[in-house]
Amino acid sequence: MEDERLLSVTQCPEDLEEASLRPRRFEEYIGQEKARNNLSVFIEAAKQRKEPLDHVLLYGPPGLGKTTLAGIIASEMGVNLRVTTGPAIEKAGDLAGLLTNLNEFDVLFIDEIHRLNRSVEEILYPAMEDFAFDIVIGKGPAARSLRMDLPKFTLVGATTRAGLLTAPLRDRFGVISRLEMYSISELTRIVKRSAGILKVEIEEDGAKEIAMRARGTPRIANRLLKRVRDFAQIRADGIVTGAVAKASLDLLEVDQLGLDNVDRNVLNTMIYKFSGGPVGLDTLAAATGEDATTIEDVYEPYLLQLGFISKTPRGRMVMPLAYQHLGIPFDPCKCPQQLSLFDAGGETT
Ligand code: ADE
Repeated sequence: MEDERLLSVTQCPEDLEEASLRPRRFEEYIGQEKARNNLSVFIEAAKQRKEPLDHVLLYGPPGLGKTTLAGIIASEMGVNLRVTTGPAIEKAGDLAGLLTNLNEFDVLFIDEIHRLNRSVEEILYPAMEDFAFDIVIGKGPAARSLRMDLPKFTLVGATTRAGLLTAPLRDRFGVISRLEMYSISELTRIVKRSAGILKVEIEEDGAKEIAMRARGTPRIANRLLKRVRDFAQIRADGIVTGAVAKASLDLLEVDQLGLDNVDRNVLNTMIYKFSGGPVGLDTLAAATGEDATTIEDVYEPYLLQLGFISKTPRGRMVMPLAYQHLGIPFDPCKCPQQLSLFDAGGETT
C-alpha cells in the first residue's frame, strides 16, 4: 500500500529529491551523540590501521537517519557507498553481483536487513567473516563448492526490528548501534539547518513549532518544513514565524504533539471499541483498517514513547496520558481490564 501520510516515516520521492538536506560528514550531523561518538572512534582507528571498518548494525524506528549514517560512514572512510534493501536481494546471484562489484573497504548498506531471505543470508556469513563467497557447482553427489575471494568491505545493516534478526547474522556485526528518537532541541537545529539549505527564512519559534510536531524524527521534521514553507509563501510573507508554523500545522491536522488522523484513529478505536484495551495487534489492525506491521513499526514507537499506550502480554492498552491529550475523561472503573493496572494497592485477586 502506498503510504501518503504527511507524517509517514517511510521515504517518498520528494525526500529522495531532497538528499541535499542529508548531512555528509559527522561535523554536519546533529544528534545521536552516542552512536556518532562511538562510530567516529571506530572509523578513525580502522583508518589508522588501514583496515576496513568492522560491520555495523544500526537499529531503531524508521526515519532516524540510518541511510544518512551509512553515507557518513562511507564519506568518513573515504570509500564508495552501495545501497540496497533486504527484499531486493532475491537470489544468491544478486548478492554475488553486489559483492564482486565492490572496491576494497567500500560500504555496502542493506536496509531492512531482517527481510533477507534465508538462503541469501547464509551466503552472507562467509562474505562477512572471511570476505569469501562460496559457489556450488553441479548438483547431488557431483556438486562441488568453489571459494571466491571478495574485496574487504564493510556491511552496514539497518533494521527497525533487531529482534527479527537471526542470532548468527546479528553475531557477525562488530558494532551494534541503537538509534534514539531526537529531542526537540536537536530537531530545532535540524530544521534550521534544512531551512538554510532550502533558503527558507525561519525564526527560532517557527523551527521549534515544527520540531515539536515531528515525532522525534528528522525525516518528518524536514517534510513538515517543506509544507509550512508552502503556507508561508502563499498565505504569509514567506517567513516561517512561530505563528505561521502553528497555523500551517493546524491546517495540516498535525496536533501539538505531532499526532495525525491515523494516530488519533488508533487511539480512539482502542478507547471506544475496546474500552481502552488490552487489544491484540491483528484485531486493532482490522478495526482501524491499517496494516498490522505498519501499526507496529510506524505508529506504535511514538505512541509508546509518549506513554500513550503500553504493550502487555494480552495486547495494547491506552494509558491515562492519551485520554488527557484527547480530552476524553479517564475512568478506570469503566475499564475493568485496566482497573488492576491502576489500582494503587496493586492487589491481585
Ligand atoms: N537532516 C536529517 N537528519 C539530520 C541530522 N541528524 N543532522 C543534520 N541534518 C539532518
